[in-house]
Amino acid sequence: MTVNLSSISKQIDTILVLDFGSQYTQLIARRVRESNVYSEILPWDIDEEKIKSMNPKGIILSGGPDSVTNSYTPRIPQIVFELNIPILGICYGMQTLAEQLGGQVISSEQKEFGYSELTVTADCILFSGLGKTLNVWMSHGDQVQDLPDNFELVAETATAPIAVMQHVTKPIYALQFHPEVTHTEDGKTVLDNYIFSVCKANADWKMGNLIEQRIQEIKNQVQDNKVLLGLSGGVDSSVTAALLHEAIGKKLVCVFVDNGLLRKGEAEEVMNTFKENMNLNVIRSDSEEVFLRHLKGVADPEQKRKIIGRTFIDVFDAEATKLKGIHFLAQGTIYPDVIESSGSESKEARVIKSHHNVGGLPEEMKMELVEPLRDLFKDEVRRMGVELGLSSEMLNRHPFPGPGLGVRILGDITKEKTSVLKEADHIFIEELIQADLYKTVSQAFAVYLPIKSVGVVGDERRYAEVIGLRAVETVDFMTARWAHLPYDFLEHVSNRIVNEIEEVSRVVYDISSKPPATIEWE
Ligand code: XMP
Repeated sequence: MTVNLSSISKQIDTILVLDFGSQYTQLIARRVRESNVYSEILPWDIDEEKIKSMNPKGIILSGGPDSVTNSYTPRIPQIVFELNIPILGICYGMQTLAEQLGGQVISSEQKEFGYSELTVTADCILFSGLGKTLNVWMSHGDQVQDLPDNFELVAETATAPIAVMQHVTKPIYALQFHPEVTHTEDGKTVLDNYIFSVCKANADWKMGNLIEQRIQEIKNQVQDNKVLLGLSGGVDSSVTAALLHEAIGKKLVCVFVDNGLLRKGEAEEVMNTFKENMNLNVIRSDSEEVFLRHLKGVADPEQKRKIIGRTFIDVFDAEATKLKGIHFLAQGTIYPDVIESSGSESKEARVIKSHHNVGGLPEEMKMELVEPLRDLFKDEVRRMGVELGLSSEMLNRHPFPGPGLGVRILGDITKEKTSVLKEADHIFIEELIQADLYKTVSQAFAVYLPIKSVGVVGDERRYAEVIGLRAVETVDFMTARWAHLPYDFLEHVSNRIVNEIEEVSRVVYDISSKPPATIEWE
């Protein structure tokens, strides 16, 4: 979101990040906030008056995809130099800084991506407390060839002879590497040295400030109008709901679509949390029947996904159309969603994502988007949720796919199958929590397999369904390892499932990692 120059940023020390389009820009702001210093991102071509009115303690110039060796690429606004405050250029930020101050930048034959050993050759406050060599993360084609006047060399790598430079009298520094990515050894210390030793910023920012700020921004944006939110019960939409509720109370209208493909008791839990406990305006749309009708006889996973998505939009539209006078649509978009859908946060990306998300709404509704979490990372959203009073169970729940049990029942979907799967899944999750294993895995669930198997229960032969159990450990869900849950635990879960669910005769445990398997079975 375009961040307003709220009163908060004037009261507390702010580090401004000027965005030149790098995929890591948000990470820079995040690292600063991790050090409890407030940070805002503004586009490089923002109105100069805005930069001035923020009264920042320091400015960080982000990286970016352009080459300063071309004309008409982004440049640092003149005001940045006139404010006489500390400046830190990173990657493209360094190159345009060098270029604008009279140095020379070349497009190097040798592009450098990945680790590089940095050797620090001069005293520099940014490296105070660190050794003379550091493993740093590089991602660049261009590099500074000649230092601008009054700059001195601070550090080099084998391929970038000018990898760090500093002004001899002014607090202006530039790094060719990325201190904001975790791959860079001691990158956080380098940034902290800039924030605290160079900018002399106070660590007086807290999550509470961000909540206050976002509330103010929401109020400014929506004024007296009503806002519609599709509440799924997931972390992002729940935190968005709680935040909007704080900001505009009953002017927030939430629609919760129960598609019948949720986990056991989930619909009731969501309604309890938001309607009963938090007194939110929530409309529950009981739509199991329509979803099952549309899905009847469909076995192909992609078809099922499409039908569930389309039906969701139909149901949501129908509910929204009944409501009168709504001008805004809120969404729990978070920063990784923005990157996933577009590669980077840019004005172009915004449009693509917005169209994508409101694609199903009737033309005449033309609602403006409210996305108060779009520059935050998942763990920041969780921290915000804690401060807003959401329960830790809700905030730390494993992710659940949009199509829900629809992609965990292999083959066609019936109400009977969803009932069996809900029970099996519930037993598995309940036991994981009981055994204190829930938090040790990133995602766990049961899958309904479309085969029958022979079993013996008591003296009876039972020809019945097979349930698969899946549990994985992962950081980013792009790759995952199957969780090595204890055998005794698995045995206990398997016994409970077969004993308590008549329709099941066998339980299997999935020992495939991703890749080559995916986390979900469909
Ligand atoms: P896969 O199966 O691709 O899953 O390894 C990676 C993560 O994404 C979730 N997932 C989905 N989430 N809609 C969603 O909202 C979907 O269609 C979908 N498919 C997979 C999955 O649960 C896991 O966390």
